[in-house]
Amino acid sequence: CITRHYTFNIVSHNVTRLCHTKSIISVNGRFPGPRLIAREGDRVVVKVANHVANNVTFHWHGVRQISSGWADGPVYITQCPIQTGQTYTYNFTITGQRGTLFWHAHISWLRATLYGPLIILPKRNESYPFKKPYKEVPILFGEWWNADPEAVIAQALQTGAGPNVSDAYTINGLPGPLYNCSSKDTFKLNVKPGKTYMLRLINAAMNDELFFSIANHTLTIVEADAVYTKPFKTRLVLITPGQTTNVLLQTKPYYPNANFLMTAVPYFTGLGTFDNSTVAGILKYEHPPNQSSNTKKKLFKPTPPPVNATAFVANFTQKFRSLGSAKFPANVPQKVDKRFLFTIGLGSNPCPNNTTCQGPNGSKFSASINNISFVLPTTALLQSYFFGKASGVYTTDFPTNPLNPFNYTGTPPNNTVVSNGTRAVVLPFNASVELVLQDTSILGAESHPLHLHGFNFFIVGQGFGNYDSNNDPANFNLVDPVERNTVGVPSGGWVALRFQADNPGVWFMHCHFDVHTSWGLRMAWIVLDGSLPNQKLPPPPSDLPQC
Ligand code: C2O
Repeated sequence: CITRHYTFNIVSHNVTRLCHTKSIISVNGRFPGPRLIAREGDRVVVKVANHVANNVTFHWHGVRQISSGWADGPVYITQCPIQTGQTYTYNFTITGQRGTLFWHAHISWLRATLYGPLIILPKRNESYPFKKPYKEVPILFGEWWNADPEAVIAQALQTGAGPNVSDAYTINGLPGPLYNCSSKDTFKLNVKPGKTYMLRLINAAMNDELFFSIANHTLTIVEADAVYTKPFKTRLVLITPGQTTNVLLQTKPYYPNANFLMTAVPYFTGLGTFDNSTVAGILKYEHPPNQSSNTKKKLFKPTPPPVNATAFVANFTQKFRSLGSAKFPANVPQKVDKRFLFTIGLGSNPCPNNTTCQGPNGSKFSASINNISFVLPTTALLQSYFFGKASGVYTTDFPTNPLNPFNYTGTPPNNTVVSNGTRAVVLPFNASVELVLQDTSILGAESHPLHLHGFNFFIVGQGFGNYDSNNDPANFNLVDPVERNTVGVPSGGWVALRFQADNPGVWFMHCHFDVHTSWGLRMAWIVLDGSLPNQKLPPPPSDLPQC
């Protein structure tokens, strides 16, 4: 194992998309940001130097951060922001993980431009549990605003309304030919016939689940969130923000006289249509040796997602199973120490006196877990916890169950006002946790990609309607459920997760739709130290930013 050193200089950088030039905040003047590559077992050291006016922090999304919680990065959860002119060095070891993850800024909406792939190769001398691909290609989905995304969310929070939607989706930062003034900004994947390519799909979009497909080609899923899965074939991949998936693309055995669009269509707004809210890239086969390069080629487009997308998604997500081999077993907790039922959904906050708000019924949009809309403190929870200074910063009474049970997927209750607070759940070291996430239909059912920091969880069950604690557990899969760090909680339904709280620290959990996180759909778990020395969180690094 070796140490991989990276330097992130945070600088402004001019970028033109959709015929619109603007200054963005970037890592090293690159958009999307640089690729981080490591092998399982390596140490990764990233020195961040902030040269812009905004505060920043970085998160290594999906990295377990075993005994390195100080490097996790969500602002005011594990660290104070890196202010203008300051530096902070993130230092962590990749333990027991291999596959595709990503990194992104974890403060306000800065991840709109600060994100990039984090690729974990197997240990030297170890191979994939599938045939070695001829080539590997990261495919990052993102969103582009002609406006400044920081202004977009600031305005939304001020008025209480929903934020303006982005102007384009992107593949590797490029909107592609279906948008106006964008065809030269198209991601092109040049391939040879008869080869296997591995696409490392990363949904770094801010607020949308996406359907990805390539015209006339089938994809084989082999990994999710840096955990191998049982391989399965599909024409269409649903990927939520925060999820990563490796797929194998087998190219045709011959040179087709055609090019093929690869598209990502949002789950909600683009259903059944093929409109200009679709990002497209082009799969191009090399020129056959005997053909001139200006031979006109036909362009194939993917079939749009099915009209009944919800049924497709439920079926598709059930196909993900842990590989569960002798070398890569699925270590599903078989017994449960702590059970939680969390309702997640939207709600509202009253409009402050003497102002007008543009949210539901003149209120402000809000979002909550068990009716608590989580307020970020002004100092970091992990520091407060570690130094025994909880008082005035957070409380440990986050509700383990809904405060007022109601028919979550039926007619919503009249009172949708949520309460605000900075509350956490405390877990003993190594507790085995079962967590049911129940979507509520308050202000409209919507699916939520829930992301847990510091752990992978097993998705042992999912269903529509209200979770039934008497009957649903009988159908849980405790043998080979998929292991991930981000789960799409279905609109009008629930998922059941299990994880082992074997990582001491403070761990954020939130909706990976940034607008929902901003509205408060977030909370924190505190995992206490164990009794052995390697079960304790070490003290913070000396350059940890202070508030
Ligand atoms: Cu990718 Cu807390 O986030």
